[in-house]
Order: sequence, then structure tokens, then C-alpha cells
Amino acid sequence: MKLRLALAAAVVAVAFSAALSGHAYAQAPIVIKFSHVVARDTPKGQAAERFKLLAEQATKGRVKVEVYPNSQLYKDKEELEALQLGAVQMLAPSLAKFGPLGVKEFEAFDLPYIFPSKAMLNSVTEGPIGRSLLKKLESKGITGLAFWDNGFKVMSANKPLRKPADFKDLRMRIQSSKVLDAQMRALGANPQVLAFSDVYQALQSGVVEGTENTPSNMYTQKMHEMQKYVTVSNHGYLGYAVIVNKKFWDGLPTEIRRALDNAMQEATAYEKAIAQRDNDAALEAIRKTGKTQVITLTPQEQAEWRAAMVPVQRAMESRIGKDLIASMNKQAAK
Ligand code: LMR
Repeated sequence: MKLRLALAAAVVAVAFSAALSGHAYAQAPIVIKFSHVVARDTPKGQAAERFKLLAEQATKGRVKVEVYPNSQLYKDKEELEALQLGAVQMLAPSLAKFGPLGVKEFEAFDLPYIFPSKAMLNSVTEGPIGRSLLKKLESKGITGLAFWDNGFKVMSANKPLRKPADFKDLRMRIQSSKVLDAQMRALGANPQVLAFSDVYQALQSGVVEGTENTPSNMYTQKMHEMQKYVTVSNHGYLGYAVIVNKKFWDGLPTEIRRALDNAMQEATAYEKAIAQRDNDAALEAIRKTGKTQVITLTPQEQAEWRAAMVPVQRAMESRIGKDLIASMNKQAAK
């Protein structure tokens, strides 16, 4: 009798704990909060959604990815702090925003005219230079998973920007990058660091008079509504590093991490495939409003912009590292 009771109790205990662990899975999937600052219908916004879909499918629901676009959860600087504290697990900040973290080398991507084309940029991000840059994040408690594209930037203002002299004393919004600060000063402008989520209002109120960004960011934030002129200068690049909290990432079961890695690779290929198309469409949409004039520079004007901004590469050597700039230029020239 005693034996039967003991056996029954054991069976109940096993069944109960199985039910509990099943319940625990159902109730508590692994949650990845993915915060970003741009609109859902930008290259980054769409790729974040694609990653969510692929990651949830591949892990059969054991992982739930919650995407928070448009600075809904955190603004630029706050989101990096939130990632380090573990309040969010995944971000894709622009490469111009890693300086305050103490990894200034990422600002190399902001150097004016460093990449003659997207293909050459990709050879940097997908090769040893890209890998060694991501490695630098480890000591900050961050793991870098991938580079995502946006595209080359345009300049905008309420006056036509055709020559470097047109920038004189113009208050231009920049991201928090010392290279971008130097770039605007090289043009004679007065750079102002502002969070992405504050740009529209700052343009509206006149806190800043102009800005630089990719057409997709400009259009989806309606910045063009506050700017009468956009110059297609392609003077610099805007891209991202997709990053995760290292402790969180290292603590994942191996098979989950592998599935997420694969989902990230697929989402990255998708992102790179749509970025240029989205930027071309956004520039066209801005042009079509008829309210913002899109300016194309003549070869002579392009040469003047270059002459004004290329010296920034040299001036920033002590901050970014002479060797890194040289190896990027070398890779870009291959
Ligand atoms: C900006 O602040 O202008 C961009 O970094 C926003 C973004 O994430 O593309």
C-alpha cells in the first residue's frame, strides 16, 4: 500500500513538473526587445520586422521578438544605455553613434567620400575590417551580429546648397559623431548634435536650418516638408551595426542562438537588397511633392565639395586611427 502510494506520488510529481515546464515555455518565451529610432517603412524598419518573422518561425515560438520602431521606447543615446543595462536586447544604431560608447573607430564610416560605391563599402563591412570593428564591442558588453545598409546621404536646407560657401554659418543637424562635426565645420557650417527623433521639430522651429540624411530617413520623418532644397551630394554613408547584449546572447541555448544567427543572416541579405531601392523611391517621392527642389551637382560643383571635405579624413586620423583609415581607403580602392 505504502509502495503504491509512493509510486502514485512520484507519477503525480513527474506529471506536475512536466506540465509546469510546458506551461513555463508557453507562458514565458525568450523575449528579444529590438528598439530602433526610424520608421517601420525604412530599410532598417523592414529588416527588423523580417528578422522577427524569421526568428520566431525558426525557433517555433520559443523566441518572441518585440520590435519598437520610431524611438517609441528609447531615443539615440538612451537606447545604447538600455542595451548595456539589459532593458532591451537588440538594437541597430547607426555607425555614427558608437563614439559615446568609447568605440570611436566606427566613426570611420562617417568620413566624407571614403567609399566610392556600395560594393566597396560591402567589401569593408563583410571582410576582416568589419569583423575586427565588431570585436571591439565585446569589451563594452555588446556582441555585434551584422552590418546593415542605409545609403549615401543628401544635404538639405531652405536655401539651395550648390557650393561649400552656401553652408556658411548654417545650423546643420548632425548625429553624435566627431567626424560629422568636423565635416560640417569644413564646409563652414555650424553643426548641432540632435537625437533623430527631435530633428523634424528642430527644423520646424528653426533650432536647426538644415540637415543631412538618406532620402528614406528624410521622407519617412517628413523632414522634406520643412526643407525647400535637397542636394544629392552622396558625400557620406549611413549604415548600422546590429548589436545584442552580450550576456543575454551568450546565455541563450546553443540551438536557439544558432537559429537566431541564421535568421539574422537572412534578414541582413534582405536589408541589403532593399536599401538602395527604398532610397531611390524616397528621393523620387520627395521630388514628386513639387515642394522640395532636388538639386543635382555639376561635376565642377562635386569637385568643390570634395576639395572642401576630403581633408577631414586626414584631420581625423588621430581620433579614428591612421592605419584604419588607410586600410579602408586601400580596401575601397581594390
Ligand atoms: C540619424 O540619427 O539621422 C540616423 O542615424 C537615424 C537612423 O537610425 O537611420
